[in-house]
Amino acid sequence: MSSSTNVTIPVAALMLALVAPPVHAQSAEEQAGDPERGRVVYRSVGYCGNCHGWAGDGKSGTNLQAPVGPNLRETPLDTEALIEVIGCGRPESPMPFHDRAAYRDGRCFGMDLDDFAPGAAPKRGKTFSDRDVANVVAYLETYVIGRGEPTFEECTEFYDNPSAHACSSLQ
Ligand code: HEC
Repeated sequence: MSSSTNVTIPVAALMLALVAPPVHAQSAEEQAGDPERGRVVYRSVGYCGNCHGWAGDGKSGTNLQAPVGPNLRETPLDTEALIEVIGCGRPESPMPFHDRAAYRDGRCFGMDLDDFAPGAAPKRGKTFSDRDVANVVAYLETYVIGRGEPTFEECTEFYDNPSAHACSSLQ
């Protein structure tokens, strides 16, 4: 009995050592974000289109009751800045925060919501995980930023529906 225990422990340690590298590789991939999942987050979790439009251009299909967001197709922001503005929102503007841990653990400008002057704190949007923040950034970088005018194909892909009513004017 005791001899089998002596063998098992080193084997378990070796297995762990072999398993560790793929786990790291996977988390790096997750950090980079999945653009397909990001489209779902943009469309149906964050409802970014209410303010930025389905196409991100600040025009197409925005909710008329909502504040108008700027044209994301022309944003100059890099990955890090996109993560910050989507996760933390923009203080003193209608851009809400979406990272569910924002203003809780110092990740947003080292601040809590109470640290802002009354009325100056960013509003809470639909919140989600920081992985989904990375996913929505990957979506913007893959399908939106620098893409020029929105097309019918992009629209039907966005709604995942070849006869989406919102796309008919682009046909
Ligand atoms: C309630 C309306 C609203 C919603 C919802 C909203 N935004 Fe915004 N967003 C804005 C406004 C307004 C600004 C401009 C803020 C400013 O004045 O600097 C903005 C700014 C941004 C910017 C910075 C653009 C730049 O070039 O500076 C990004 C990126 C962005 N939004 C992405 C998103 C994403 C992704 C979502 C969904 C997860 C989202 N927004 C949801 C209104 C909104």
